[in-house]
Amino acid sequence: MKIAVAGVGYVGLVTAVGFAHHGHMVTAVDLDTQKIAGLTKGISPIYEPGLETLLQEQLAANRIQFTTDGASAYADADAIVIGVGTPENEDGSANLSAIYQVAREIGQSIQKDCLVIVKSTVPVGTNDKIETIVQEALKHAVHVDVVSNPEFLAQGSAIYDTLHGSRIVIGTESRAAEEKMRELYDAYGQPILAVSRRSAELVKYASNDFLALKISFVNEIANLCDILGADIEEVTEGMGYDPRIGNSFLRAGIGYGGSCFPKDTKALHWLAEDHGFVLRTIEAAIKINEKQKYVLMHKLRKELPNLAGKKIAVLGLTFKPNTDDLREAPSIPNMRVLQKEGAIIQAYDPIAMAKTAEILGDATIMKNSVEEALDGADACLIFTEWNEICATSPDTFNNYMATPLVLDGRNCFDKHAMALAGITYQSIGRPLAKVRQLQ
Ligand code: UGA
Repeated sequence: MKIAVAGVGYVGLVTAVGFAHHGHMVTAVDLDTQKIAGLTKGISPIYEPGLETLLQEQLAANRIQFTTDGASAYADADAIVIGVGTPENEDGSANLSAIYQVAREIGQSIQKDCLVIVKSTVPVGTNDKIETIVQEALKHAVHVDVVSNPEFLAQGSAIYDTLHGSRIVIGTESRAAEEKMRELYDAYGQPILAVSRRSAELVKYASNDFLALKISFVNEIANLCDILGADIEEVTEGMGYDPRIGNSFLRAGIGYGGSCFPKDTKALHWLAEDHGFVLRTIEAAIKINEKQKYVLMHKLRKELPNLAGKKIAVLGLTFKPNTDDLREAPSIPNMRVLQKEGAIIQAYDPIAMAKTAEILGDATIMKNSVEEALDGADACLIFTEWNEICATSPDTFNNYMATPLVLDGRNCFDKHAMALAGITYQSIGRPLAKVRQLQ
């Protein structure tokens, strides 16, 4: 099929490359000329394992092209995918202006019957509005079906998730549109679930919000473990054997970040409230996550009440490993607090150094390696479980730090090994005081 993709952000770009990989002819559109110029040469604007290689393969096979000319790309496409961003408004609602703008442009440009596929995460009912906008902007007598097709890929594993997804959800009331969507995804070999358009829109929010809730729940239990002397890893292992609970997404830490969970929890909560309904579970997940972000600072203050002039190593800056994304990364607000209190930050991340320096307005805090960040430090805070960081040996902390105080927000290390090495080590929900001792 001939496919146009509007927006080459995370979702749009990975989707475009995925369709090309499965043999479709793809034209991806974006307003950003620099991005388009780079992509045309096979350079990805985002760090995502496997993406650049797959992109270059599709360029070499002439199955993908990039352009800023949306009108021409949409004119004769069989399907147009909308993958533009839906950022958060100040009040927590989703900002849909970019989507509506693209919908208008699509309506004005199409010259033959086609599908408009909405991949962006949008509040329930938005597909209806998109359809109205497209219909009202039409300049030719063509038939357009708007289909909701939410995206479930996660950053860091986006290519794998696209090629081996758990399900493809199609939201449409049109039999013909459903058939075309099945044809489009035929080569993917993934389970396809066809539902109503509103249900499809809600599947996406409900999935993300449930996962966010799972994380906030486990973080609360972890905090309770710290108080009661139980170990969260033992507790979640025991829970995970129950197939109704499952053993994934139960890692305790300093809370969820990124461009999805924080935004999507607030957007659904806002949407429900707008209809006079309060989603109490989501409200709790949001509040718990906001507090959890600062849990390492509370632990740090207990050890070092005055942070002025103290050297604090910060390891891992991105919201999770294998991405360069710093959106809603807990490291950023924590480093702002450290800066405000006069601490000397020595930060390291395998990928996101330059971006972090820009956000915090200080390049001097960036160090070139784990060792440089630890050098002479009074304490070390760990925010992201990059492999390189988790591979740091207890000896390295001991050899480089002025005082080996390590506060681990991602439970990267064996607590016994750290304690045995003489490190003052605290993590999330894994207190040392009550280590299991067989009698
Ligand atoms: C998330 C969903 O996992 C995807 O299915 C969805 O498509 C995507 O949002 C989206 O809406 O576009 P993503 O935000 O890339 O993907 O990352 P996740 O792997 O879900 O992690 C989100 C946050 O939760 C990270 O900060 C991570 O550290 C944290 N997390 C995850 C935990 O604290 N504990 C866990 O057990 C798992």
